[in-house]
Amino acid sequence: MPETAPEVDESSFRVWAPGRVNLIGEHTDYSGGLVLPVAIQHGIRLAARRREDDIVLESEGHGRAETVPADGGGPRAWGWARYAQAVAAELADAGRPAVGLTGTISSDLPPGAGLSSSAALEVALALALCAVAGFELQPLDLALLCQRAELRAVDVPCGILDQAACLLGSDEHAILLDCDSLEHRLIHVPAGAGLLIVDSGVPRSLENTAYGERRSELEQALRLVGADRSTEVEADALARLDGVAKRRLRHVVTENERVRRFAAALESGDLAAAGVVLCESHVSLRDDYEVSIPELDELVELAMETGALGARLLGGGFGGSVLVLARAEELEEVGRATAARYRERTGSGGNPLRVRASSGARLVRSG
Ligand code: GLA
Repeated sequence: MPETAPEVDESSFRVWAPGRVNLIGEHTDYSGGLVLPVAIQHGIRLAARRREDDIVLESEGHGRAETVPADGGGPRAWGWARYAQAVAAELADAGRPAVGLTGTISSDLPPGAGLSSSAALEVALALALCAVAGFELQPLDLALLCQRAELRAVDVPCGILDQAACLLGSDEHAILLDCDSLEHRLIHVPAGAGLLIVDSGVPRSLENTAYGERRSELEQALRLVGADRSTEVEADALARLDGVAKRRLRHVVTENERVRRFAAALESGDLAAAGVVLCESHVSLRDDYEVSIPELDELVELAMETGALGARLLGGGFGGSVLVLARAEELEEVGRATAARYRERTGSGGNPLRVRASSGARLVRSG
């Protein structure tokens, strides 16, 4: 008897969109500075199937399905459905035909840890909506579109870091990205570099923090020195400023330099030098940019006491996690000891999570 081909549903597929860990280059993206993120092995999965009318999404663990029109129109959605509506509306502006989908979202990103679950969700939805409509955008155009969707959905004027990391990620590599020209190149992360995040137990959400305030303070400082982007500010321009403007701009100018030094240290395999740069970044984020909180400072100190090469707060700050760099063979013990001591003092948080530089968002299976 001739074998019959298994029945294949041509219209169903899956999308994978990872979270990110920014190795260094914090609060530099929205002034056209430098960043060095990795996409990680944790993220968001979306199983989807084309349908003609609406976008109907279920999220595992979030109860009932949400429906938004395929062109992102209609009354303003709430909760996580805001992201679907905003992505669909941005795609409609970019010319995507209004084709709907039915999808189920699942995530293994710890919520509130600062691993960019919202960017991963935006990218997953954008890739799925493009796929059902046969519409294509280049990865960086898609990243810019998702960045606009974040602003539309929750009014957060974020930079391009999270969405670019999610789309450009590559196994064993970090992405050195100039956020003005969007030029980027991959930097190999040596196998001996162990990366870990440890969560403070203080949930982070950019919506309720001074993120927007920091951004306007920095833009004001850039205006004062007559610069459009932070990488063109000369050291002597800083001398003309004082107070908040000086501190905010000094962080960004020195952080751009730290990104270069960190990338060079990775390329030459000098992990001790990379660790020193991470600690300098934390001090600058704490004192000049003022986005740390005592819990994050404490985690950094504990990590250093337990044998880390370097540590610093991760992402926007005001909560979330710290990034810890340690020699790969010592990473487990550093994570265990840091977390245990932190929990002893605070009674919460302190969940170590080992992260690996991993590949970026993609359609996993079609048909
Ligand atoms: C958040 C934003 C990013 C970036 C970081 C800080 O993650 O979404 O665009 O500004 O904070 O580096």
